[in-house]
Amino acid sequence: MAPRLAFLGLGLMGQAMTANLVRFGNMEAPLTLYNRTKRKADEHSVKLGSCKVAQTIEEAVSNSDIVWSCLENHEAVMHTFESILSVDIKGKLFVDSSTIPPEKTNAIAERVLSAGGEFVAMPVMGEPTMAATRSLICIPSGNPASVDRIRPYLEGVVCRSVVDLSGEELGTSSLLKLMGNFLIMATMETVAEVNVLAEKTGLGTKNMSKLMNVMFPNPPHAVYNRRMVSGEYHTGVPMVEVHKAISLTESVLDMARKCGASVKLYEIAHEHLKAVEAFAGPTADITGIYGATRQESGLPYENGTQ
Ligand SMILES: NC(=O)c1ccc[n+]([C@@H]2O[C@H](COP(=O)([O-])OP(=O)(O)OC[C@H]3O[C@@H](n4cnc5c(N)ncnc54)[C@H](OP(=O)(O)O)[C@@H]3O)[C@@H](O)[C@H]2O)c1
Repeated sequence: MAPRLAFLGLGLMGQAMTANLVRFGNMEAPLTLYNRTKRKADEHSVKLGSCKVAQTIEEAVSNSDIVWSCLENHEAVMHTFESILSVDIKGKLFVDSSTIPPEKTNAIAERVLSAGGEFVAMPVMGEPTMAATRSLICIPSGNPASVDRIRPYLEGVVCRSVVDLSGEELGTSSLLKLMGNFLIMATMETVAEVNVLAEKTGLGTKNMSKLMNVMFPNPPHAVYNRRMVSGEYHTGVPMVEVHKAISLTESVLDMARKCGASVKLYEIAHEHLKAVEAFAGPTADITGIYGATRQESGLPYENGTQ
């Protein structure tokens, strides 16, 4: 019998992923949706069709074989798993795509496994527009047989590629995801600084984009360049709110300090994120790093205002 799926967490990522699950997942049973703020689940369900909304986490879990979560942070995941673990989870598979520290992943996985469930840690790389276009990268780790249970819903359904860590300790994929975030922050810094330099030298960001679009036509460079040069970094819906990015970068800096790694580039990115928060507030977009770099260079935070 085809597995029944539930998805917990309908934020920017969860909404895009569930839309693709319904459209491309060849699911025989309706997808169960749960969100802490139920109104969002109701509205999303109407938009998608072929879904049903669960009133509680317990209801979603009890009526499903695979429960996939994508929640804000480790507090949200811990809180959600307290409810999950209050029902019988024997034989059920839990897949978590939230970005959380490796030790939290291991702690939750241990509790799920000892209650008779299966657990796959599967953080994702790619922001919401990439999630919408099935361009994510999924990084599953855990028992290979458990990873195989979720595999039919990955490539071509919610993502373009899988970095397969099956057989590895569960926290490994969370650790690799943090490294992926490191690459993202460093890319964002590069794109922000080169555009500021282009403007200050008189070359202009239009000419800069001509080269950028040929040298680095793909995400993430292309995504950040578009958001920065178009002004979306201060006018658009944030793809990641800066306060969330600060909390993630701080956990990576802490990890680097503990293992004695030198990460100066990342420290600069962190400083810029703090400057974004101080100037534009905690819900400003992460690519406001461009605005912070502009200010350091004597330009206004917002582009197109001179
Ligand atoms: N955005 C990105 O670019 C991106 C890229 C890769 C990975 N991720 C990761 O994907 C995850 C989700 O990101 P997102 O952008 O979708 O975030 P989001 O739009 O802020 O959505 C967060 C989700 O978590 C739920 N939530 C928050 N606190 C909760 C709690 N205490 N109990 C239960 N539910 C709670 C929210 O419910 P409510 O609707 O009730 O608030 C919402 O469904 C995060 O771990 C993020 O790091 C994000």
